[in-house]
Amino acid sequence: MSKERLPDNFLWGGAVSANQCEGAYNVDGKGLSTADVTTAGSRYVKREFTDGIIEGKYYPSHEAIDFYHRYKEDIALFAEMGFKCFRTSINWTRIFPFGDETEPNEAGLKFYDNLFDELLKYNIQPVVTISHYETPLGLVKKYGSWRSRKMVDFFLRYCETIFSRYKDKVKYWLTFNEINVITLNPTISAGIVVKEGEDFDKVVYQAAHHMLVASAKAVKLGHEINPDFKIGMMMLYPIFYAETCKPEDQLAAMKAMDQHYYFSDVQVRGYYSSKAKSFLASKGIELETEPEDETALREGTVDFIGFSYYNSNVATTRPEAQFTGGNMLNAVKNPYLTESAWGWSIDPIGLRISLNNLYDRYQIPLFVVENGLGAVDKVEADGRIHDDYRIAYLREHIKAIKAAVIEDGVDCIGYTPWGCIDLVSASTGEMEKRYGFIYVDKDNEGKGTLARIRKDSFYWYKRCIETNGEDI
Ligand code: BG6
Repeated sequence: MSKERLPDNFLWGGAVSANQCEGAYNVDGKGLSTADVTTAGSRYVKREFTDGIIEGKYYPSHEAIDFYHRYKEDIALFAEMGFKCFRTSINWTRIFPFGDETEPNEAGLKFYDNLFDELLKYNIQPVVTISHYETPLGLVKKYGSWRSRKMVDFFLRYCETIFSRYKDKVKYWLTFNEINVITLNPTISAGIVVKEGEDFDKVVYQAAHHMLVASAKAVKLGHEINPDFKIGMMMLYPIFYAETCKPEDQLAAMKAMDQHYYFSDVQVRGYYSSKAKSFLASKGIELETEPEDETALREGTVDFIGFSYYNSNVATTRPEAQFTGGNMLNAVKNPYLTESAWGWSIDPIGLRISLNNLYDRYQIPLFVVENGLGAVDKVEADGRIHDDYRIAYLREHIKAIKAAVIEDGVDCIGYTPWGCIDLVSASTGEMEKRYGFIYVDKDNEGKGTLARIRKDSFYWYKRCIETNGEDI
């Protein structure tokens, strides 16, 4: 039977991560994470991962938008928009400040109890990322982070603690944010700095193996603690088009995608594909594994795929191709698309194709857990913010999701646009790269009152949710 509308239980909401919005970086027993020692950068200047906190440098995660103290006010605004769900992450170092403790920090656990209770008060389902670009710095310094197999146990202790504690409050979980980003930016994603002279691929794929095993074991553990849990993987979906129909370009596009399916194949199917094994062999990489790993991967397959989608990319064999920006990758410019101020292409059809690609390949539910337009917003003299460009971006992407679900038969369970409230940018550390429906008065240097203002998109999204995506 063909559907005409999105399902009534479609999970409309918004997404953030702890390190990009909570602030309170050293409050109530919290330890330092990698994000807390990463300076602000800009579109032109790279963020710097420093050895501890250096006096005189600006670290945007330290205060961020102070969600830690203002979450009640912010959740009331999400409720006003009618959110059915809210995706955030638990900051690992609020629970295990150093990372290898045997007992958790009660004050940290209490904070998330309060946060989830506040959401549930409004019937907003928490969707929780267990690790979103905030690896404990203690584990980075003492063990080299995910280079070490020991991380699997530290991660599982953390998972057991939060699964048991929140088993009646949280149903939807995501293990690692954008797990495939370890190959693009191992520092931000996994706290790994590859040193000069080291074999980048060897380090990264070994660490990735530890993460894949940890994720699989977490999925199994979570299902034992509460069989109703829905535990997903989360990947950055970087759809690549071939620049031309030249077979070599098509091959380049296929190969570019293989690098990312490497991860989802393991997490969804429960084993390394033969292609993944050939890839490792071609790089001369022999993964160090334990006999139990094969079973662990097989028993820990995910319930759904969460993914981020911002822009599409182009693969080419043309050496003189002009490159442009994009989420975590610089890709070849696509002459058929416009771009954001940060050079990210705007391609709603790419989202429809991505949903189809993933569903055709895996046949398990999908969840678009990040999507949005980073833009500079202007507060008018009357205090209003007319972000029609953001509305246009989101409208077209929602249409793409509807087409995938209604016309193509894809099972997509929800949509949580990124940075539903303005927050610190992950790649640049700026505040002025804004995604939110809610404006936060703070600038790139950390100045501002932190006041919250509803943008035009706030009212538009409210109407969208009210009508289940019909009136957009
Ligand atoms: C995703 C990350 O890659 O993109 C988020 O999961 C990030 O943490 C988002 O914020 C948008 O990227 P940026 O660099 O504009 O913040």
